[in-house]
Amino acid sequence: MSQTRQSPDTDRAADPVAEAGRRRTFAVISHPDAGKSTLTEALALHARVISEAGAVHGKAGRRGVVSDWLAMERARGISITSAALQFSYRDHVINLLDTPGHADFSEDTYRVLSAVDCAVMLVDAAKGLEAQTLKLFDVCRHRGIPVITFVNKWDRPGREALELCDELRERIGLRPMPLTWPVGVAGQFRGVLDRTTGEFVGFERTAGGATLAPENRMSASEAAERVGAEWRDTVEEAELLSASDGDLDVDAFLRGEATPVLFGSAVQNFGVRHLLDLLLDHAPSPGPREDVHGRPRGLDAPFSAFVFKVQTGMDPAHRDRVAFARVCSGEFERGMVATHAATGRSFATKYAQQVFGQQRETVERAYPGDVIGLVNASALGVGDTLHSGKPPVHFPGMPQFAPEHFAVARAVDPGRSKQFRRGIEQLFQEGVVQVLHSEHRGDGAPVLAAVGPMQFDVVTQRMESEFRSPVSLERLPYSVVRIVADPQQRPMLHTHNSEVLDRPDGTALAVFVDRISLRSLLRLRPELRLDHVVADAE
Ligand code: G4P
Repeated sequence: MSQTRQSPDTDRAADPVAEAGRRRTFAVISHPDAGKSTLTEALALHARVISEAGAVHGKAGRRGVVSDWLAMERARGISITSAALQFSYRDHVINLLDTPGHADFSEDTYRVLSAVDCAVMLVDAAKGLEAQTLKLFDVCRHRGIPVITFVNKWDRPGREALELCDELRERIGLRPMPLTWPVGVAGQFRGVLDRTTGEFVGFERTAGGATLAPENRMSASEAAERVGAEWRDTVEEAELLSASDGDLDVDAFLRGEATPVLFGSAVQNFGVRHLLDLLLDHAPSPGPREDVHGRPRGLDAPFSAFVFKVQTGMDPAHRDRVAFARVCSGEFERGMVATHAATGRSFATKYAQQVFGQQRETVERAYPGDVIGLVNASALGVGDTLHSGKPPVHFPGMPQFAPEHFAVARAVDPGRSKQFRRGIEQLFQEGVVQVLHSEHRGDGAPVLAAVGPMQFDVVTQRMESEFRSPVSLERLPYSVVRIVADPQQRPMLHTHNSEVLDRPDGTALAVFVDRISLRSLLRLRPELRLDHVVADAE
């Protein structure tokens, strides 16, 4: 599905600095089932999807456009691809980058966070902070990405608001700054106190949340009369919040120390408008990005972008390869010729698209914060920089994340070892999987390492269908990884519960069966110097 975008926003060239100021680029981080797809649909309903294409995707069997980019995706009814949905709201342009929501999430999910300026942490009111949310939050913290918290599903029974706020403070050290405070407990929800205006915003159930409910606001005195005791309780609690450092401090939010918190219900469209307003009013717009030397590239410098994701096989009719790049400076104009920083070669951008779900449309212009999909970009790998004009620029490569799954890969047919090596090399370059080598394993077979096991399924499928070299994967029992700080200590790390594997960049990784085996080895050999795999190479 393809069309040319006819948006007034992109018909004429504009000032990149002003355009960047109008943009907010964010992702939703959550555990599966917290309501990410529902929230995405609700956001798009409030805003004007710029393509007017209704390009929101949902899960199989649900409303929305079901992605069918890969057969595997179709079979599992999940999305394993990430792209961006662009919409406008209050004369701003919002880029919502999609993060795969399945439990078997992969490095793609993490990499998306290198392309956003802010994250919305979606928390299920009944479950609080869950495993995948915590992992994604860690990446945000590492990268210094400010986080907004949206407590979802407040329309049904859940935990207490104060308890959820304490959890933020105690488990992840993030100071909660509720902008709204619920009136009535989860499940018997009456609405919220808007702490900025002091007004009551009443909650009305809408049919499945498919329509925009009018906002039902009333003054504090009116609420005291009409809502009664529950309103008075809320006002008292809200006063306590002010006394305990719970008022909005925008600088603390931008520094990643505190999080504005909203209570709502994505399925009922409650709190969603507030979330959009918060993004516009306080989330950061794209700023200058630092190059490999730590020099910031001004927004008004000539066009530059970095690739944060490469996806192949999105169009079953063609074996295409789309590189998703975030624009960092200047103006992107379709057809412009950019330089691929890694090789110095020219790169024609005739086929630039915006992709979300199954929808594709041609992008004519894009500005800092926007995401462009470059079609047939076989030369581009994850972490690559594109730029035009002078001076040239090279942004830092993609961060390497700590893998938790390992498997030795071997060609099923030894006669196709050349295709096998080429395929593994290409999948590594695309960032589908990490490739490690072992000095100890006799046959020199590469060890594949992944954040989520689904990355291995992609390898198996593509090696067979694309490189015609079926692979066998022998899973290794490791799940914990550390960097070997002193190469002299390598021999100590080969035990029956651990071994050392090498990254192509020369970093030695010690892998352990579990944390217990790591801890017992450290007790035995306290002189071992091991570092955490920092989730950020910059
Ligand atoms: P995900 O993308 O994060 O995995 O979550 P998704 O939006 O698919 O939502 C998971 C389930 O939670 C869905 O129910 C959805 O309707 C429900 N949900 C999302 N937001 C809210 C909310 O604010 N309140 C309530 N009560 N439920 C919410 P489902 O039964 O799995 O699917 P469906 O058949 O209802 O669509």
